[in-house]
Amino acid sequence: MTQYSSDTIRPIRFEDGNLYLLDQRLLPDETVRQCYTDAGEVAAAIRDMVVRGAPAIGITAAFGVVLACRKARGQAGWRERVAADMERLRAARPTAVNLFWALDRMAREVDAATDLEAAIEATTAAARQMLDEDIAGNRRMGCHGAGLIEPGRAVLTHCNTGSLATGGYGTALGVIRAAWDDGRITEVFADETRPWLQGSRLTAWELVHDGIPVQLLCEGAAASLLRSGRVGWVIVGSDRIAANGDVANKVGTYGLALLARAHGVRFMVAAPLSTIDFDMPDGDGIPIEQRAEDEVLALAGTRVAAAGARAYNPAFDVTPAHLIDAIVTEHGVVEAPDHDKLAELRQRAAAAQDAVLED
Ligand code: MRU
Repeated sequence: MTQYSSDTIRPIRFEDGNLYLLDQRLLPDETVRQCYTDAGEVAAAIRDMVVRGAPAIGITAAFGVVLACRKARGQAGWRERVAADMERLRAARPTAVNLFWALDRMAREVDAATDLEAAIEATTAAARQMLDEDIAGNRRMGCHGAGLIEPGRAVLTHCNTGSLATGGYGTALGVIRAAWDDGRITEVFADETRPWLQGSRLTAWELVHDGIPVQLLCEGAAASLLRSGRVGWVIVGSDRIAANGDVANKVGTYGLALLARAHGVRFMVAAPLSTIDFDMPDGDGIPIEQRAEDEVLALAGTRVAAAGARAYNPAFDVTPAHLIDAIVTEHGVVEAPDHDKLAELRQRAAAAQDAVLED
């Protein structure tokens, strides 16, 4: 039976009407929680990477809507004010579909509310539920994903997909946690993940915290590592999965998928159903965030690139579905994903939801 190891890191807290975000820019050196009471500031926090990772961005934006409602107290035209704040949140980052999924869910709560106090109550309950459901779903996803892993080898992961990137526990890192607890993996290799170093700063911090052995590598070392036979699975998360199974994730994921296929290593994507954008037919249409050149040209605020050089800095890339062995969600596993299999998963999840509501 799976024993869940240390699962105490919580990046998002909502207490006494205030939103607290663990400032991920300062980790691992400092653990500082920033306090927010204003939705516009929450949008800036998402854009500036105080909080990051697709599910965490969505949950944070949901609480941003709660703050927008609270701030509208005593103001004329509360619906317009809340709608304007929701637009600010919507514009924070373009790739993670969880942001838009969460805001659409919150917009339905606001629209259904008869007055502002009812909106505050309904949005608060919905955001809290989203946070709780995310953690519970990640645990189920962890079990589903771990079940695919034959014991005895290491795994390689990219970026940070752990507690910090979600409500808690993690997606790909949740699978890794569950697989470690089940004795299925020997160790974790984690890409450092330039330019924000989510691997070195965040994934390593979480794994060390949990006592799971981790070795960091520069992305350039992945090819020889995968050729060595030490790694059984590459396991990553996603910011948006198109209806045909193409996967947008942290830049460098596509290269890893190609390397994995070339060396007979299996490739798993772990993400909640809310990351699947059924309105996006394939990966070509997924908006890819381009971030500031300085993120590549400088390290820790100090310019390291030659003067005059410019930088190409897409934050994500798209891995075609045919390179993916399994998409793992809280509702189960889809092997060799394609349009029909994902549509079937969606139907199964909706039927399960209806059954719960009928109970
Ligand atoms: O730019 P980031 O740090 O927000 O990118 C995060 C990723 O690419 C993650 O892999 C993805 O959001 C899944 S997190 C569970």
